[in-house]
Amino acid sequence: MEQAWTLEQAREADASDPLSHTKERFFLPEGVLYLDGNSLGALAKAVPPALARLAEEEWGGRLIAGWRECGWMEAPERVGDLIAPLLGAEPGEVIVADTTTIAIHKVLGAALAARPERKTVLTTSDNFPSDLYACSETARRHGAELKVVERSELLAAIDESVAAVEVTHVDYRTGAVHDLPAVTATVHAAGGLMIWDLCHSAGALPVGLSGNEVDLAVGCSYKYLNGGPGAPSFIYVRRQLQQSLDSPLPGWLGHERPFDFSAGYEPAAGIRRFLTSSPPIAAVTALEAALGAFAGVTIEQVREKSMALTDLFSSVIRQREGSGLELVSPGEASKRGSQVSFRHAAAEAVVSAAAGKGVIGDFRPPDLCRFGLAPLYLSYEDVYLAAGVVAEVAASAC
Ligand SMILES: Cc1ncc(COP(=O)(O)O)c(C=O)c1O
Repeated sequence: MEQAWTLEQAREADASDPLSHTKERFFLPEGVLYLDGNSLGALAKAVPPALARLAEEEWGGRLIAGWRECGWMEAPERVGDLIAPLLGAEPGEVIVADTTTIAIHKVLGAALAARPERKTVLTTSDNFPSDLYACSETARRHGAELKVVERSELLAAIDESVAAVEVTHVDYRTGAVHDLPAVTATVHAAGGLMIWDLCHSAGALPVGLSGNEVDLAVGCSYKYLNGGPGAPSFIYVRRQLQQSLDSPLPGWLGHERPFDFSAGYEPAAGIRRFLTSSPPIAAVTALEAALGAFAGVTIEQVREKSMALTDLFSSVIRQREGSGLELVSPGEASKRGSQVSFRHAAAEAVVSAAAGKGVIGDFRPPDLCRFGLAPLYLSYEDVYLAAGVVAEVAASAC
């Protein structure tokens, strides 16, 4: 049930918020209420000095020796291990590499090669476009068919022809959350492999990858993980599957002994076999520093605050009569991610007018206003005030 919030109550919630201190870990421009951390997370204060150190001391000072002496070579696994607890994964199950779309090509290619007798890849029509393109092309290359079903038909469509299911855990438009345990268990019962896109989940809510025996997952690090524009993706491969899955994009850094420079490819033992190329050290350095903003914070605490913030935001907006904003996210906080989306006849104008008053959200065509609420750097008061501005500009745009 949504509570009817007041400004006083929002301030009281801030006073007892166990995460109130993490806002200090970020730079946020004066006069801006930033509700777009589900597109690009804010800049953590630890990032600029880490990048300066990389440039001046490591690259500038150590040159080529940096690969050995500054931990650059191990960075993909080391930073993967920092992300793992946020996903409920074990050390050695997550690696940082590539970008999400490339990572989908890799894990789906590996899954289809592991189920050659099965000829269906299953996904949902509301999946992110890049996922649909990657699924379509990978299926085509493997002589399989891409079956695209409505979200509500997903469970019923899982049968023994399915090699792999690839879906996005939290819908990028509405924030609706798939039932990850149920979908994963159904895919396993039918003998297929399950791949989750966690772009809108990582750093926002618990996903329990190991506990649910998820096979494969990918996600970006520039949203709730705050890795910066174009930050690399992460790839999760369940430990028990690592030796039996092969990356369809082998490269020298996925080799067991890259510095043998041998002509024949021998995949590395473990998660490193999903690497292809040299890691983008500047980007990985920024991400590693940004992940420090989660120090001392559990993903359960993040989720608890996130649900309260999304309740607060939608409740303030819905209390305002005549705003013309229609909630399209699930009404129950437990069924949506860390975002709230509304339909409005003049959605683009609403988002732009709110931005003019310092409240940054985003517009998704044809008619959605989307607001991401990142618990590490938004207070209850911020969200209360932002909701008031959105409701006001929406009412004037009607
Ligand atoms: C759910 C989802 N999947 C995939 C992508 C594509 O990510 P990338 O640009 O890292 O390939 C995005 C981008 O926002 C996304 O939201």
